[in-house]
Amino acid sequence: MARLIFPEGFLWGAATAAYQIEGSWKKDGKGENVWDRFTHSKYRIHGGDTGDDACDHYRLMPKDVALMKSLGLQAYRFSISWTRVLPGGRGRINPKGLGFYDRLVDKLLAAGIVPNATLNHWDFPQALEDLGGWPDRRSADWFAEYARIVFDKLGDRVAMWATHNEPFIVAFLGYATGDFAPGRADYPSAVRAAHHLLLGHGQAVDFYRQSGCKGKIGIVLDHPWYVPASSRPEDVAARNRVFDAGQGLFLDAVFHGRYPELLSTWSKSLNPDIQPGDMKQISRPVDYLGINHYSTVLIGFSARGGFLKNAREEYSAPGMGKNSVGWGFNPAGLTAVLESIRDKYGNPPVYITENGTTVADTPDAKGFVEDWGRVGYLRSHLRALHTAMEKGCDVRGYFVWSLMDNFEWAHGYGPRFGIVRVDYKTQRRIPKRSALWYREVIRQNGLDE
Ligand code: NOJ
Repeated sequence: MARLIFPEGFLWGAATAAYQIEGSWKKDGKGENVWDRFTHSKYRIHGGDTGDDACDHYRLMPKDVALMKSLGLQAYRFSISWTRVLPGGRGRINPKGLGFYDRLVDKLLAAGIVPNATLNHWDFPQALEDLGGWPDRRSADWFAEYARIVFDKLGDRVAMWATHNEPFIVAFLGYATGDFAPGRADYPSAVRAAHHLLLGHGQAVDFYRQSGCKGKIGIVLDHPWYVPASSRPEDVAARNRVFDAGQGLFLDAVFHGRYPELLSTWSKSLNPDIQPGDMKQISRPVDYLGINHYSTVLIGFSARGGFLKNAREEYSAPGMGKNSVGWGFNPAGLTAVLESIRDKYGNPPVYITENGTTVADTPDAKGFVEDWGRVGYLRSHLRALHTAMEKGCDVRGYFVWSLMDNFEWAHGYGPRFGIVRVDYKTQRRIPKRSALWYREVIRQNGLDE
């Protein structure tokens, strides 16, 4: 059988995020963040779940690194909890919190695993939210200062950095729909939040360059593929509006130093306060672009569809089902995303920083999960990725979401995205079929066609 081989040096890893796995929400002086507050408020999270204990990774970290090594991972993408480092979001540094990441990085390096650290995976300090949060322009400085402190401590050993993870979700689910922390629902605040997230990103990139560290720094964006519901012009226009208001907003700003035209044609109240120099600051060159991709969405025109006048529906390729949170299955969408980035943004080096799915895992008596559904998802997406690379897209690595089952935000612990099963009662980790399959992919640097 022919084999699909990836280029030499292609980086294979797995990803997690602090709030989703660490637990120990108050341990060693950690401060409160917006997800701590949000999960402790009533009716926000399915089943009333919280990240208080999660996967207990804060305590089990050395074992988890040993697990990563046993799975043959070449890289590990994790995030840093801002309020472990700075309990109040700024000011006093908490050496114990910072020390945790220091030890994690050393353990990874000792295991031969490349550390890939994200500074903001959504767990913004509650103290700073109380001062105005991301819609407040000062948030850009707060973030950059936190980034500087972390670079000082870890910059000599961490090879890959991301400023933000999915800033669209932070801004729009956090401040426009209110579905995610901090749960505010005010569209203009969300647009301002987006601008300040970007500004903070650019300022952190400057600090990174000034630090003299030799690693790579970039930003991680969520990028579904969007398909118009029909070829009718109003559906195509709705599709383009959704792209511009989500991915285009961040991509155009970072790579072209401007916002999509859509933003300036929105009502005045929606325009963020863009000051001279902002767009230049935001568009500082990055070393790579991180893309989180899961599914394809059909977009049609709907007069009642809010600001963007759209209706959306998850799309699955013929014969393919939906996953347990209702997302579609369309591997070709990943190829399309990568080609669109190649064509619109000058073919930057891309890492797939997240890709994966949740299936209804059923463990056998020993706790082993034959998750062939997940294997099928991953295999077909790696094929789609390979196709994009054959078409000239500059992709340098792939991180599966997620290393282990974890706290899936507003869904709580129901959906399981891990290639390793977590028994939340005992905190036992059991690699699933997909983990064993992925280890083989990494070993061969490719897969059977
Ligand atoms: C994107 C987010 O970065 C991650 O935190 C989340 O768990 C996965 N997608 C799955 O929804």
